[in-house]
Amino acid sequence: MALYALGDLHLSYQSKIKSVAQRESALWQGHEERFLENCRAMVTDADTLLLLGDHSWGNKLPYCRKDLEYIESLPGRKILLRGNHDHFWDVKKTEQLNQMYEGRLHFLQNNYFLYKDYALVGTKGYCFEGPFYMSPGGQIVGYDEEAYAHAQALVNREAERLQKSFDAAVRDGHHRFIMLLHYPPTSLMERDSIFTKMAEQYHVEQVIYAHCHGEARFHDSIRGRKKGILYSLASGDCLRWKPLKVLS
Ligand SMILES: [Fe+2]
Ligand SMILES: [Fe+2]
Repeated sequence: MALYALGDLHLSYQSKIKSVAQRESALWQGHEERFLENCRAMVTDADTLLLLGDHSWGNKLPYCRKDLEYIESLPGRKILLRGNHDHFWDVKKTEQLNQMYEGRLHFLQNNYFLYKDYALVGTKGYCFEGPFYMSPGGQIVGYDEEAYAHAQALVNREAERLQKSFDAAVRDGHHRFIMLLHYPPTSLMERDSIFTKMAEQYHVEQVIYAHCHGEARFHDSIRGRKKGILYSLASGDCLRWKPLKVLS
């Protein structure tokens, strides 16, 4: 029995949309088949597979049914987190999605799931990604304050959602946590955030996130141990489509 994670499949079985990297980078060519093969080699039906958002380019549920069928076909118990591109998933309709896909897919939002004695809590999260103003030497010397204020409002809303997830787990008597985010836990110019503070407050053992694509973005946020918490980036292209083993 093991716990695995990977994010950002960006499936497009029913859509013509693809990112530039998906169209042009060798790393993305046939990534669906490569991920399926890697999962079949590593993950058993007794295992749990966390999919950390940006599942589908389809913007409504009818346009991502095949993408979700692909996810269903992967081995193990599948738990899905919302990413910024998952427009098919209205937060308020999470319960409906859980009923619709009962026993096949599990949607994590304002709730939690268990792996052994760990509560798996999480939300999409948010971080400020600019625009930044750079010096000729490549240092950040300023940023768009209006965009930053807007990002802060989104961060606060996501923190409230994460709190709901923690509250539900604590209410049921759980005190060991793995925390999932789609966005990185901190913005580029931060070393701490409301999300890292919550992770510390609840003595979370691991924080796993995705969203960062391409070599240049892989070190946008915390990776490795910080204040006793292990932070891991698990975007699909960073992991070369091999799921990250989170726990045995
Ligand atoms: Fe993504
Ligand atoms: Fe994303």
